[in-house]
Amino acid sequence: MTTVAAFGMGRIGGEAAYLSAVSGFADELVLYDINTELLRAQKLDILHAKEIPVSTRPSDIKDADYCIFSAGYSRSPNVKTRADLFDKNLPIAKEAAGIMKGFPGKLIVLTNPMDVFTWYFAKHAGFDESQVVGFGGLLDSRRFTLALHSMGINETGIVIGEHGENQVPLFSGLSVDVPESVREEVLLGLRGSSMPVIKGKGGTVFGPAYHIAHMLEEIENGREIVCSLPMNGAYGIDGCALGIPAKVTKDGAKINESLKLDDWESEKLRSAAEFLTGLCRRV
Ligand SMILES: NC(=O)c1ccc[n+]([C@@H]2O[C@H](COP(=O)([O-])OP(=O)(O)OC[C@H]3O[C@@H](n4cnc5c(N)ncnc54)[C@H](O)[C@@H]3O)[C@@H](O)[C@H]2O)c1
Repeated sequence: MTTVAAFGMGRIGGEAAYLSAVSGFADELVLYDINTELLRAQKLDILHAKEIPVSTRPSDIKDADYCIFSAGYSRSPNVKTRADLFDKNLPIAKEAAGIMKGFPGKLIVLTNPMDVFTWYFAKHAGFDESQVVGFGGLLDSRRFTLALHSMGINETGIVIGEHGENQVPLFSGLSVDVPESVREEVLLGLRGSSMPVIKGKGGTVFGPAYHIAHMLEEIENGREIVCSLPMNGAYGIDGCALGIPAKVTKDGAKINESLKLDDWESEKLRSAAEFLTGLCRRV
């Protein structure tokens, strides 16, 4: 029996809960949102798709195996970067930590700036660090893969670093050499890759939700994924969480420390860590 909770039932929480139900991953759902009318609507819409036990009592989150945290403000064409959401979403994360107190399962953090809230929940919110993992790297990696394919490079891309402006696409592991000028151009494209979706339909939905569902399955199977974790000294980085490949299980996470980064990538990762450490100090 697997119970999936969603704290925040907007675009992302709603679609992720729906996918967990219809894929058969979740046997039960616990759904919560401050907007009770939306919460009722999302619950009913899921039940119109599939018969599944659904609780909307926040106290039932403590019986869930996974909790997807996506409550809070999202970007709009006027909010350019995920980091700009920090001040508005910090009080929501703090309030959520109180409501989710005693939750023993895996907390999947989505609310942006996601790496910072991953750090907050792992280090300052009363959860065990082994419970917390941030989502974003799988989506960024898919977007990078798409960019590579459009360049005629039919390989799978990996993106580490910040889920944001300081993301670090890894070029050095590809079978072709990509010069720095082209890397910078690709990076610029990646930074803006979700904005056309936000402008066109209000926010991203299918991309993140699909990869969240995939992430839950990969965690169940103990497979390596790109996700956000407190670095605790890995790659010489401390004081923040950021995206890195890791084997994540219900019991914890093991960061893959064997990536061979070239100078361009190492420098970008250092900048990401510096930027995120500054924000993490403020939680
Ligand atoms: N990490 C990622 O890859 C990724 C991808 C997409 C979106 N996001 C982030 O996820 C968050 C949600 O995005 P969305 O598109 O679903 O937004 P949304 O506006 O559709 O949903 C957010 C929900 O949070 C609820 N909420 C607000 N305050 C709350 C509180 N105190 N308690 C409970 N619920 C509360 C709102 O009522 C709303 O339903 C944003 O911060 C967004 O930037 C992250």
